[in-house]
Amino acid sequence: MPSDAAEVLTAAGYTVDTFDTSEPPPRDEIIARTRGCAGVITMLSDRVDDKFLDAVGSSLRIVANYAVGFDNVDLEACKQRNIRVSNTPGVLTEATADTAWALILAAARNVAEGDRVMRTGKWSGWAPTQLLGLELNGATLGILGAGRIGSAVARRSIGFGMRVIYTDTTTNEMLEKELGAERVDLDRLVAESDVLTLHIPMTPEARHLIGAARFKAMKPNAVLINTARGPIVDESALVEALRNKEIAAAGLDVYENEPRVAPGLAELPNVVLLPHLGSATTTTRGKMAAMAAENVIAVLTGREPPNAVV
Ligand code: DGY
Repeated sequence: MPSDAAEVLTAAGYTVDTFDTSEPPPRDEIIARTRGCAGVITMLSDRVDDKFLDAVGSSLRIVANYAVGFDNVDLEACKQRNIRVSNTPGVLTEATADTAWALILAAARNVAEGDRVMRTGKWSGWAPTQLLGLELNGATLGILGAGRIGSAVARRSIGFGMRVIYTDTTTNEMLEKELGAERVDLDRLVAESDVLTLHIPMTPEARHLIGAARFKAMKPNAVLINTARGPIVDESALVEALRNKEIAAAGLDVYENEPRVAPGLAELPNVVLLPHLGSATTTTRGKMAAMAAENVIAVLTGREPPNAVV
């Protein structure tokens, strides 16, 4: 984590223990070093459940998750122990929308495959049918989940001249007024999107929402983008869909079992794979760190955490 969060906490008078590795430390070590702490700043790769909370002991008062998503935290288990949970909403919206667009362009226009062709010396010269992709102008962008990030992705489509449709539990007035976006049900979203991009939180209902049947219902030229959470997509079914050309391409930033990817996925030329970089800009990761530190300080000084989840 950007180091100023530790500095902010230290300046506020707290003793801070940080893991100085860029790889996630082993769970046992996290538990051992969290034992006796009043607060912990967790990464999205840290599972905070009954086992974790029992093992770290009763001193813990806040779990400040360094992510907007908090599916790694068992909220009920925290509630039962009067432990507050916070996240980092808002500050990563634009960076994550940029990442979704990086994947849209890369997957639609064979950017990664083109780069591989060049690097491996396989380019024998210009050819009229080499690596033909999807023309975004005039294509339909489907947004599953028109919240903060989904809306930011939709807004970026103006410059590309795309039609926007979305699926959400409520109407997004801003998208409808500014972009002429149309709210549709999931069946229509899947069937009509040329680019389908996922922006819903990970909940039990969201698990494998996009699976074999949905791939069959998509257009053969469609591109699937996932910067939300891996388990929303049935990754093995995606491998089959890409292999059998049921859809044209995919761009993924998140995976069902991070950091592993489904067998066969990395061998496919029509998928672009990023290592969960959604919010990875210096500015955004710094803001997320400051936010996590603020939430810890709020709880430890008896105030309401500004970004409380529970
Ligand atoms: C989040 O904050 O949930 C993102 O996945 C991190 O980039």
